[in-house]
Amino acid sequence: MMSHGYNPEWSEGSVKPPIFQTSTFVFKNSEEGKRFFEVAYGKSTLNKNEQLGLIYSRINNPNMEILEERLSILEECEDAAAFESGMSAISTTMLAYLKPGDTLLFSNPTYGGTHSFVYNFLNNIGVNIVSFHSESTYKEILKKLKKENLDKSLSMIYVETPANPTNSLIDLELVQKVKDTIFKENGNEIVTVVDNTYLGPIWQSPLKFGVDIVCYSATKFLNGHSDLIAGAIMGSKEKVSKVKNLRTFLGSMIAPHTAWLLTRSLETLHVRMNYQLQNTKKIVNFLLSHKKIKKVFFPGLKSMGKAQLKIFKKQCFEGGAMIGFEVNGNEKSAFKVLDSFKLIKLAVSLGSNESLAQHPYSMTHCDVPNEIKEKIGISEGLIRLSVGIENADDIINDLNQALTKI
Ligand SMILES: Cc1ncc(COP(=O)(O)O)c(C=O)c1O
Repeated sequence: MMSHGYNPEWSEGSVKPPIFQTSTFVFKNSEEGKRFFEVAYGKSTLNKNEQLGLIYSRINNPNMEILEERLSILEECEDAAAFESGMSAISTTMLAYLKPGDTLLFSNPTYGGTHSFVYNFLNNIGVNIVSFHSESTYKEILKKLKKENLDKSLSMIYVETPANPTNSLIDLELVQKVKDTIFKENGNEIVTVVDNTYLGPIWQSPLKFGVDIVCYSATKFLNGHSDLIAGAIMGSKEKVSKVKNLRTFLGSMIAPHTAWLLTRSLETLHVRMNYQLQNTKKIVNFLLSHKKIKKVFFPGLKSMGKAQLKIFKKQCFEGGAMIGFEVNGNEKSAFKVLDSFKLIKLAVSLGSNESLAQHPYSMTHCDVPNEIKEKIGISEGLIRLSVGIENADDIINDLNQALTKI
């Protein structure tokens, strides 16, 4: 992955790819420009051994291309598309595959921004939303879809697993079963999308379960340094190209400098993530034994329930580096703990080198109606911790001293 898609000979021997900070590219001649546009706009397909030339940085740019080729390797798939944010990756994918009158089957909870986009924007333009959660059965989902004949217009199943911030898992085999049944009955094309931000690309591979597209906030683990905002999707050439085409017209592509930073971050992805995982295991054990903590939400724990454990064993390699924990008491107690941290930073976002903690109820998920929050486990006492690469004992000591304040 680290050397794929770039040859130092192309850039004066530079070991690392330079930043191609340019808006446009010079064609050798008019015929070449004509040919590049024909292919870029889908009027013609590439011949064997022909490559799409560089045109304009909203369509293609070397930094974006190098990054996308490496992301495809990490996810073990044909193609990737990079975006200026995780939300632009998600919204562009949804808009590419959904139109007014279509139905979206949507897992709950998801990241608050995705939830808002679906319920406040897509719903307003006439997309029907049917929701389900980690405990919904195959029968219940089909019943809900068929109740208002919405199975006939089902066009997308969108899932976030593990879900932000409760770490609940959605069974990807169940998702595939729903898709297959509706397709058999009605013949509608249904695209399945999984937000793989929490565990991908190294601890979970949804594409291996038949999922069509995985999407990411690349701001998180993929970058891992809290210094940029970016997004990505991965999947087959066919599925990704429809999203890339819309990206060209929405202009939501990643910028050269951001792509270059992210390419650099990918080189340490495994080192960072595996170290974060080792820290997280120690912290989960500490939290489980602490008397001021009501519940720990972490994939693979027995306390998540039998069904969740079964899904974990089937589709996750590891539990990740994101922990939810509920402190005794309500918002006041949670705020007291958050305000008492000395090392862990009180900030949203996740997956970075430094440990970050926040209060989902009043922060990232404030837009989710309170009754839904309670139903899906986002309580006032819940704190979300993203574990970094500091010394695990330092993080544990910080948690310990903050918890004594309540
Ligand atoms: C799981 C998940 N998906 C998507 C997003 C949105 O990504 P971005 O903030 O890069 O737009 C986030 C952001 O926190 C997230 O946590």
